[in-house]
Amino acid sequence: MTQCARLTGRAAHLYDAGPAILSGGWVVGPVHAYQAMNSSHCTPASPARRTRVGIVGYGSSGRRFHPYLLGRVPELELAAVASRSIERRALAEQQHGVATYETVDEMLRRDTIDLVVVATPHNTHCPIACRVMEAGTHCVVEKIMCLNGAEAEAMIAASRHNGVLLSVFQNRRWDWDFLTVKKAIDDGLIGAPYLFEIARFGYRAQGGWRGDRVAGGGILFDWGAHFIDQALQLVPGEVASVSCDVQYRGWGAEIGSYARLLLRFTGGVLYSIEIGNLARYAKPHWLVLGERGSLVKHGFDPQEAAMLAGTIEAAVEDPANRAKITTEVGGLVTEMVVESVRSDWTYYYRNIADVLAGRAELIVKPEEAARAMAVIDAAMESARTVAPVRLGKESR
Ligand SMILES: NC(=O)c1ccc[n+]([C@@H]2O[C@H](COP(=O)([O-])OP(=O)(O)OC[C@H]3O[C@@H](n4cnc5c(N)ncnc54)[C@H](OP(=O)(O)O)[C@@H]3O)[C@@H](O)[C@H]2O)c1
Repeated sequence: MTQCARLTGRAAHLYDAGPAILSGGWVVGPVHAYQAMNSSHCTPASPARRTRVGIVGYGSSGRRFHPYLLGRVPELELAAVASRSIERRALAEQQHGVATYETVDEMLRRDTIDLVVVATPHNTHCPIACRVMEAGTHCVVEKIMCLNGAEAEAMIAASRHNGVLLSVFQNRRWDWDFLTVKKAIDDGLIGAPYLFEIARFGYRAQGGWRGDRVAGGGILFDWGAHFIDQALQLVPGEVASVSCDVQYRGWGAEIGSYARLLLRFTGGVLYSIEIGNLARYAKPHWLVLGERGSLVKHGFDPQEAAMLAGTIEAAVEDPANRAKITTEVGGLVTEMVVESVRSDWTYYYRNIADVLAGRAELIVKPEEAARAMAVIDAAMESARTVAPVRLGKESR
């Protein structure tokens, strides 16, 4: 019997026209936050109005990513922006005609906001998200979820206690390269994979809060947040142990200029993630070795440039970056170049709208992001102690 649940508390005001039915998979709250119902009582939710969304932080992500992607989902409406800067508030009013506030607290007090998107530096994610959820408001947090596993637990507790949705904006689950690698593996093109090597190299300083260890967390917390999430999605089983080395050179003296992280999965799969900001050489983005073949892919997902140009669906990948697969077909070793799987970051918010309407299971679950934070905790300990760190049973 499928379990559904009725959202109670302040968040239920979204659904004036009827009870909000959330799919069983989404329900993360304790029994008291939801009224369990069996499937025969589930009726399609019919929101009386669009979900009113507020963004906190009108920087690069808050200004360039979220308004555009939210605007592509009819059930979601950008209604307000909280920014500490008077210029940015004026810009948000001019660009989107929305109400603006100096702080998230003022926004929640004076406006009717159903969902808040937190697009601020990493060390502010946990405190801001918890305040949002304590006010009975759903919350999407930019990646990385927070600074450590303890903060992740606090955020999940706030979500459960208040019976509201919590998710992390892991848009790179919809990256073309990630989906192409996943499809090649799922289609059995390279046999059982046993080694992944992911790299992102460049020669660039991390400026602003990203270059501040307290605010950003360090080199692993930016692209590492995407790559660890992808690893946990691609490889079945649990992470048995983690080794991590960080080099602190040049402009990375405070947060690290190079990091190499190795995840060892219980099934034996090795997953290496390298991030270098002091590297005048680009390794392939992906190298995957399987028992029957290999996959190599250069370059990064093309959606950002297309999104900034106003048409994410027009994204085009350089054909030179298509995945090259060497494998055995009919007894012959063959090389093939495969078309990338096209996708769209909008699917993240499409899913959020569907979850709030009771039509779907949440794709990016907070427990998954917390699992990634446990890997980050272990990686930081490994880098400090220069030794592998075993992970306990990854529950959740
Ligand atoms: N998923 C992705 O692909 C992606 C891409 C880019 C960034 N991100 C993530 O988005 C988040 C923001 O990054 P960003 O590149 O947008 O940084 P950013 O351009 O520096 O913008 C961050 C904004 O946060 C606000 N802020 C700064 N310090 C704050 C504080 N102490 N308390 C409250 N608000 C503060 C500021 O906005 P106001 O001045 O308006 O208050 C600032 O403009 C990070 O988590 C980052 O990892 C994700």
